[in-house]
Amino acid sequence: MQNPIIVALDVPTPARAVELARSVAPHVGAFKVGKELFVSAGPEIVRQLRATGTQVFLDLKFHDIPNTVAKAVAAATRLDVQLLTIHASGGSEMMAAAERAAQETAAALGRLPPLVLGVTVLTSMDASALAELGVLSDVPSQVQRLALLARQSGLRGLVCSPLELSMLRQVLPNEMTLVTPGIRTGMDKADDQKRTLSARDAMAAGANWLVIGRPIYAAADPAGAARAILDSLY
Ligand code: C5P
Repeated sequence: MQNPIIVALDVPTPARAVELARSVAPHVGAFKVGKELFVSAGPEIVRQLRATGTQVFLDLKFHDIPNTVAKAVAAATRLDVQLLTIHASGGSEMMAAAERAAQETAAALGRLPPLVLGVTVLTSMDASALAELGVLSDVPSQVQRLALLARQSGLRGLVCSPLELSMLRQVLPNEMTLVTPGIRTGMDKADDQKRTLSARDAMAAGANWLVIGRPIYAAADPAGAARAILDSLY
């Protein structure tokens, strides 16, 4: 089985990111580069991480007209990331264009396509935040609606909260990859995460990948923390 731990490199400098990546790499499956690190360090940080042999998850949550998102996904595919995110609320045409760009660009390079993950409803949003946008569904219904639309549009994976895993597993085919943040053990601080599961419980609920930030990078011994989480899965 692949190691399902993705470490979120939510650190301010590329030097810290590469140092952290080198120290925990033996115990994890991939690293997530988010907006702060990418905007400050640029694509070079992805090349540096890939040069260590690790998989990279580029979490830039693209949301734009289909042509623009397709070009951004093609560029990320050429950069050789293994996972990336787009907003499912960009619509079916945008999602289909993103998936097609990933497939076609990878085929031209003779590589496997990156997994294009749909983000449904941001976990920072509640029903009143949806209502402000004119979306009158409750959050679980809207998550389900966007998840099914992502699937119909050809996406092969989604990002979801740990507490959405069971519901999504009931409505999606098994081959849909689910990536979940919000992982905490009973002993960790919850930080600003309100809805959490342990790594083991999230895997049991149907996650394929676990995105873990502070419990690893803010630990006194990040490599030890990553190893302990991995050990807790078996
Ligand atoms: O430090 P922590 O384990 O909470 O980090 C989780 C990572 O997953 C962060 O990079 C955060 O931005 C991301 N994330 C999240 N909740 C979401 C989507 C992404 O925590 N709903």
